[in-house]
Amino acid sequence: MNYQQILDTIATEYLSMQSTGKVASYIPELSKIDPQKFGMHLYCINSGHYSFGDNNERFSIQSISKVFALTRAMLLMNDTELFARVDVEPSGDPFNSLVQLEYENGIPRNPFINAGALVISDILISQLDNPKEDFLSFIHSLTGTTSININPKVFASEKAYSHRNAALLNLMKAFGNITNDIETVLDFYIFQCSIEMSCKELSTAFMIYANGGKRLSDEHQIVPPQKVKRINAIMQTCGFYDEAGEFSFRVGLPGKSGVGGGIVAIHPNQYTVTVWSPPLNPKGNSELGMYALERLTTLTGFSIF
Ligand code: DON
Repeated sequence: MNYQQILDTIATEYLSMQSTGKVASYIPELSKIDPQKFGMHLYCINSGHYSFGDNNERFSIQSISKVFALTRAMLLMNDTELFARVDVEPSGDPFNSLVQLEYENGIPRNPFINAGALVISDILISQLDNPKEDFLSFIHSLTGTTSININPKVFASEKAYSHRNAALLNLMKAFGNITNDIETVLDFYIFQCSIEMSCKELSTAFMIYANGGKRLSDEHQIVPPQKVKRINAIMQTCGFYDEAGEFSFRVGLPGKSGVGGGIVAIHPNQYTVTVWSPPLNPKGNSELGMYALERLTTLTGFSIF
């Protein structure tokens, strides 16, 4: 497969395209990003790296961090206990919605909506002495790059505007599904969301999900294959909130988006791919990113279906 030629075609089609989407502004610091930024990076298990555009520039990974957090929690706790506190069903609601939580007794639909990710944060805080250091070290071990860190301005900006996430936490605590202090959980969750990585670094980190749980650089087994199967299944069904069906329909790969404009997708046993374009569609997913990934699986002729 000539991936570079395919990526060049996508670059020609979309690099100069004006997105009709809007850069996230509910976290004020994110609204300062140049909407024209656009990068794509594909990491093939057999043949290495392909890219174009701003693929080496770091951006706010936001909800993409929820995949790393779920993985870390699944390595620390058994699945029966963990999935008693957070379900694995698509929500069909926006990522920050409160409505289902009330009538489902404080058990979030899945670990990728905000409510579910906050439960995962609570679990990591209970299980780890230094959750922030552990979280960064986990990403460093997946990428081999120790300079990956948070953007303190994005962290402070989200902290100042986190009333919805605080509401989710309070509601879940009332139902007995949050163990630690609201402020402690919020602080850790915002920390993980404010991490910055490039398309290349995300494609490298996500390689464990395409490579049966093994890090490609040394074939070290980081996550057992059965857990990778489950994480990929949750990405497929819940990775794009109330647009998970649309992403599956158009792209046909498991993946995860973030409001920083990044999307990572994986083709098991083939490749990982990351695309970054900040303007978001109304569902909070990168508009051009979705187009670019749709073109990728169309031009290669392969998806998981
Ligand atoms: O909690 C929030 O709202 C953000 N830190 C993350 C949301 C997000 O990335 C949703 N993804 N598309």
